[in-house]
Amino acid sequence: MNQTTAVILARRPDRTFVADDLSLGTIDLPELAAGQALVRNQYMSLDPSTRGRMDPGEKQYTTNFTIGGPLDGSAVGVVVESSSPKLPVGATVRHRLGWREYAVVDDAAATLCDISVAPATAWLSSLGQTGFTAYAGLLPVGRLQPGQTVLVSGAGGAVGSMAGQFARLLGAGRVIGSAGGAEKCAWLRDDCGFDVVINYRDGDFAAELPGAAPDGIDLFFDNVGGWQFAAALQNMAINGRVSMCGAISNFGTQEQPSTACLIEAVLRRITIQGFIVRDYEDLRPEFEQRVIGWLASGELVDRATIVEGIANAGAGLAGLLSGANVGKALVRLSE
Ligand SMILES: NC(=O)c1ccc[n+]([C@@H]2O[C@H](COP(=O)([O-])OP(=O)(O)OC[C@H]3O[C@@H](n4cnc5c(N)ncnc54)[C@H](OP(=O)(O)O)[C@@H]3O)[C@@H](O)[C@H]2O)c1
Repeated sequence: MNQTTAVILARRPDRTFVADDLSLGTIDLPELAAGQALVRNQYMSLDPSTRGRMDPGEKQYTTNFTIGGPLDGSAVGVVVESSSPKLPVGATVRHRLGWREYAVVDDAAATLCDISVAPATAWLSSLGQTGFTAYAGLLPVGRLQPGQTVLVSGAGGAVGSMAGQFARLLGAGRVIGSAGGAEKCAWLRDDCGFDVVINYRDGDFAAELPGAAPDGIDLFFDNVGGWQFAAALQNMAINGRVSMCGAISNFGTQEQPSTACLIEAVLRRITIQGFIVRDYEDLRPEFEQRVIGWLASGELVDRATIVEGIANAGAGLAGLLSGANVGKALVRLSE
């Protein structure tokens, strides 16, 4: 096999991403060199950061896509040919060359996934970068302590649903979420064990938050930014901490609150820390051990919204950016 179908950046999005910003194309696959394997991709992750990488501006932590070139991102697949003893034929591996049906991967850039302990999808979700982001944001960054009140914005998405559940499993006293729509809110309350969920699309988030956190928020895990960030700051406990994971509300809008809200950080002695998950790689073994245990005991819910086929990947990303997914958003590329 020397070619594969891939998703190509056709043009840079004009503020709001639409599926037509991408196209399907054929790219060459290199001959296998020593230490490489040919992988048939089964699932790939849909991530908000993919949208950011379509812009021309420098992101400081990742590279941007070029017009006419293929996208990439996390994927899991099965090794079908190998020149590496570390990646045997038949093994399930995770790597960074998604957005294509087949990939030639270096063994140094691929991780074996044990599908006897969790399905392939979980290695992109609870056991993947998604879950690891939630873990890093709560513990080394957020310094969560048992009994504390935690607010998670974007709670119905991939990272948020893990952050809220991990907080509960790590002993938080009260877990509050914000999410858009009744279905996500019901799922977070009934299946994921959140104590309170605010439907920010139907209600008034800023007005409901004081009642949801009467003693103040000790740790705010923020996926959304914007108006929810500003409202949360006004409800922080003294010496509270904000773990800044992302600002998905920034995409496609120029309406943002003024930085005047930051005075709350002074008044309430708040620590605000942004983070990039890859800086916490040394914690991955303890993270995987804990999550495998939580999945085995049934205490952790790992739900995915799965789009079928590479031809629908662009529509899947547009859906993700408008909140269509409940839990982790994935594309199935093959059985
Ligand atoms: N720091 C890191 O290392 C790192 C690593 C991975 C991800 N991230 C960030 O983590 C965040 C979550 O990523 P994810 O993979 O969980 O994505 P996701 O599954 O798409 O979840 C994001 C959630 O945000 C909500 N949302 C979207 N637009 C919104 C808006 N304008 N206002 C309020 N809520 C909105 C969405 O649904 P509803 O609107 O329906 O609630 C969705 O549930 C993103 O900001 C991402 O960039 C950071």
